[in-house]
Amino acid sequence: MSGAKDNAQKRIEALRAELRRHEHLYYVLDAPEVSDAEFDALMNKLKELEAEHPELVTPDSPSQRVGGKPADGFKKAQHSRPMLSLDNAYSADELAAWERRVRELAGSLPVEFTAELKLDGLSIAIQYAPDEKGGARLASGLTRGDGQIGEDVTTNIRTIRSVPLSIGADRLKKAGMPQTFEVRGEVVMPAEAFRLMNEEREREGLPAFVNPRNSAAGTLRTLEPSIVAQRRLVFFAYFLLENGEYFAAGQSATLDKLTALGFRVNPHRERVQSTEQMMKFIDNAEAQRESLGYEIDGVVLKVDAHQTQQRLGYTGKAPRWAIAYKFTARAGITKVNEISIQVGRTGKLTPVAELEPVFIGGTTVSRATLHNADFIAGLGLKIGDWVKVERGGDVIPKVVEVVDDKEHPRGHKNFAFPTHCPECGSEVVRAEGEADYRCVNADCPAMLRESLLHFGRREVMNIEGLGEAVVQQLLEKKLVRSVADLYTLTVDQLAALDRFAEKSATALVDQIEKSKKAGLARVIMGFGIRFVGERTAELLAEEFGSIDALISASAEELERVEEVGPRISQAILEFFAQEKNRTLVDHLREAGVDMTAEKKVRTAQLAGLTFVLTGTLPTLSRDEAKRMIEAAGGKASGSVSKKTNYVVAGEEAGSKLDKARELGVSVIDEAGLMQLLNGNA
Ligand code: IVH
Repeated sequence: MSGAKDNAQKRIEALRAELRRHEHLYYVLDAPEVSDAEFDALMNKLKELEAEHPELVTPDSPSQRVGGKPADGFKKAQHSRPMLSLDNAYSADELAAWERRVRELAGSLPVEFTAELKLDGLSIAIQYAPDEKGGARLASGLTRGDGQIGEDVTTNIRTIRSVPLSIGADRLKKAGMPQTFEVRGEVVMPAEAFRLMNEEREREGLPAFVNPRNSAAGTLRTLEPSIVAQRRLVFFAYFLLENGEYFAAGQSATLDKLTALGFRVNPHRERVQSTEQMMKFIDNAEAQRESLGYEIDGVVLKVDAHQTQQRLGYTGKAPRWAIAYKFTARAGITKVNEISIQVGRTGKLTPVAELEPVFIGGTTVSRATLHNADFIAGLGLKIGDWVKVERGGDVIPKVVEVVDDKEHPRGHKNFAFPTHCPECGSEVVRAEGEADYRCVNADCPAMLRESLLHFGRREVMNIEGLGEAVVQQLLEKKLVRSVADLYTLTVDQLAALDRFAEKSATALVDQIEKSKKAGLARVIMGFGIRFVGERTAELLAEEFGSIDALISASAEELERVEEVGPRISQAILEFFAQEKNRTLVDHLREAGVDMTAEKKVRTAQLAGLTFVLTGTLPTLSRDEAKRMIEAAGGKASGSVSKKTNYVVAGEEAGSKLDKARELGVSVIDEAGLMQLLNGNA
């Protein structure tokens, strides 16, 4: 290396070290030593030197947080171990019951708890891999996704300043860590960043985000890393994994280790021994809630010792060794300025309270559903009344009561439920025994509009860009008469719409094209059949495997599906009994929309099969694998014999594998087991 270059390399490395130290001080410890301007000056110096010596740029340089965009959306990737959720508790009694159960199951093992804040963000998993210098480098970052498979949002996670891009060999060594490991935690958007972002969106005429969590989630899925970088997301770490196994030292020590590695760990945490101490921590957390600067929606309690955690194990979806205590809803008082009517995709008329905007728990609330005429009558609500509005973590704001006191005088205007549809003017009817009024016009434009919007939603066919403004224009220009017509839209037609250019038109056509492969479950959801939500749609798709099989199913066959009772089967039968809905299916088929799904083998079909697990499986713990086999009717045994049907072998499988080979028993890996469980053997 030439002298000049050698010199540049040294200066670059010194600057990087200095910048990393300041990033850590600022973004992790919240204790900056230099002003923003001084920091920027250092960064500019580094960028200058790197521009002069591009061959010296490394991906873990602090200048490289904002990198290239992922070319074609986010790839999916499997988690090293499923990312589970937590069971909830809402009262001291429920916590006490949990504590009792934990102690019962733990037997003689130690039971202590770590209390942490429940950050209202989204969980992510970040993988670190060895670099050439004995340290670790950020290798990839995944969203939780469905818990098994997440989206690879590495480019965006790199822009979060509290996430180290690299961890030096010294630090690793001091912390006693290998070069390969995984960190899990929560990404949140601080209240201030949320406020600034929404102000800017308002200036640009964009719709505001409803709350910091949604905007953090939206931000992480943005395909433009420079935007993500501006949004100032924060990452709080809470888990450390090695080879898909939790760090063996226990939760409290894990948090210490994460701190030592340079991660931001939420400072509000405590070791507690009893429900009483848990409640004290919870009361404190609730008292500090408004002044934290980021949203929390409860407290998470985790059994501290790793060994005890392992003894306690997991239920279907959540660990038995942890629980989320959820805060109760927060409320505000505001005035009902008006009651408007929304017509849904099934023709149902929903009254909505148009409120004087009020800030409740980090969100501005300006509308709240009033459900139906009976609900309004039950409240005794008049227009101009003041009402108490409650908002839980996830829950849509709801009006809970009319306030009537000196400061909040009653309103005067009675609300009369309309006799005609506000969208098409047709008569509205309320069927015997039903709470809702419905528009009788099967061609009501509101229904079509809502159906289109529903069809495009992320959880349904996931057609990005099919928002209200577009749908409105498609209807006005009579370009679509049913959701199937979406598939006939051309770039030229869309480019002619307001606020559309060739590029956005092409993007929307691509999105629509892509949705053809969304699969049967999502198409079923897309129909918007009453009572058929995501889970039911998935179960139906798995059971019937094709739209034709579903259409020709009898009530009895439908009701064989878990969760489907007479009410749902009736709704499905009625839906497909209508000529226009069967035509819709035909049109979707002609458009090339995939309406098939992999059929699930009945669980009983694993009955009679005996499995033996050996070695370490890549994603499942032995307990999890055992439970899945048993849930599917199989038997998990401890030793291999001639009666064993399959040996499921992971890494470092030992004598059981040898025995299996000796006896000629089939040996499969985790993937093979998953295939069997999914009925694809
Ligand atoms: S532990 C199996 N700790 O809450 C492990 N989760 O309701 C579950 N969350 O999906 C995660 N703060 O997104 C854990 N200190 C904390 C948390 C936390 C927020 C979120 C996380 C999880 C959800 C479960």
